[in-house]
Amino acid sequence: MTTIKLPGLIDPHVHVRDLNQSHKEDWDSCTASALAGGITCVMAMPNTQPPITNLESLKMQQEAARARARCDYGIFLGAGVENIETAHTLASQTSGLKMYLDQTFGPLRLDNLDSLVAHAERWDKNRPLLCHAEGRTVAAAILVAHLANRSVHICHVSRKDEIELIAAAKMKGIQVTCEVCPHHLFLTLEGCRLPAGYIEVRPRLATQEDVDALWANLEAIDCFATDHAPHTRQEKESDSPPPGYPELETALPLWLTAIHENRLTLDDIVKRMCNQPQKIFGVPTQADTWIEIDTDLEWTVRGETMFSRAKWTPFEGWKMKGKVTAVYLREELVYDGEKVLAPLGTGRNINEETL
Ligand code: DOR
Ligand code: ZN
Ligand code: ZN
Repeated sequence: MTTIKLPGLIDPHVHVRDLNQSHKEDWDSCTASALAGGITCVMAMPNTQPPITNLESLKMQQEAARARARCDYGIFLGAGVENIETAHTLASQTSGLKMYLDQTFGPLRLDNLDSLVAHAERWDKNRPLLCHAEGRTVAAAILVAHLANRSVHICHVSRKDEIELIAAAKMKGIQVTCEVCPHHLFLTLEGCRLPAGYIEVRPRLATQEDVDALWANLEAIDCFATDHAPHTRQEKESDSPPPGYPELETALPLWLTAIHENRLTLDDIVKRMCNQPQKIFGVPTQADTWIEIDTDLEWTVRGETMFSRAKWTPFEGWKMKGKVTAVYLREELVYDGEKVLAPLGTGRNINEETL
């Protein structure tokens, strides 16, 4: 057994589902799932029910998190046509502004170029501006941000043309950062054996050529993010299955397994799940916070045993090598390799308090 110690990991892309979709997940189950995956800070997406687009909904989400989060967290605000004039007034209480430029789960969507430009111009230049963008909207997001003299973060990059465009923009000194998710690095649409509804995810799974291009452009990938998007089995098996995969508990084990296959180094992981997210999303250093990993422990992924309320995983039955054996948050043991020990409300809002 080889035990190593790493800093607590940061996941900048998590769908927590509190407030009114807690049958899928809430701050309690989501942050338990995060801790079991070695993640000590989650950044919550705003496409909730109700969506987080104004002071009232932001306050409700802050209160839900304060009561139930077991690890640290930040909350993103959602951009809509109705909050062009007000979104930026809430910037200091949030971890960034999320713009949905393509169709995905929930009602948040920015369809016209005018509102995209207006938000990019008004939003605080020192806070992240994030985009769900696919294909051509990636180019639109980069140009609009560049013209507004600000940075932009492209979420869940999944395709060859997208990563190559981002790499080229970076070469020109344009301020763009991006993240890639485990499912886009380990699964292809063709090779995926999941039942139809379970396959649904946005952006969709892509081809082997796309997957290879992401691995080939690792240097252009700033962060690894899970896009943890839990939906129930019943919903996934329905006639209109919502897109998304629960992934907080499998991300780090997948990266650790990739180390054994010589596809990644430990440094690649720490950079993309700690140092760079910290820098891009302004996450303060979590004092006396670390995780312990048994790098040789072999185990098989089982959705049923997960802390996430979803109880299924796109990696069911996969053999992993490497597991989190302990997580310490501010010196307290909060996960012992089997049980989550952090009480509800242990987590702190990174935009409200000093950690
Ligand atoms: O697959 C996805 N699910 N992609 C998204 O962009 C949203 C997410 C969700 O909220 O379920
Ligand atoms: Zn998205
Ligand atoms: Zn997402």
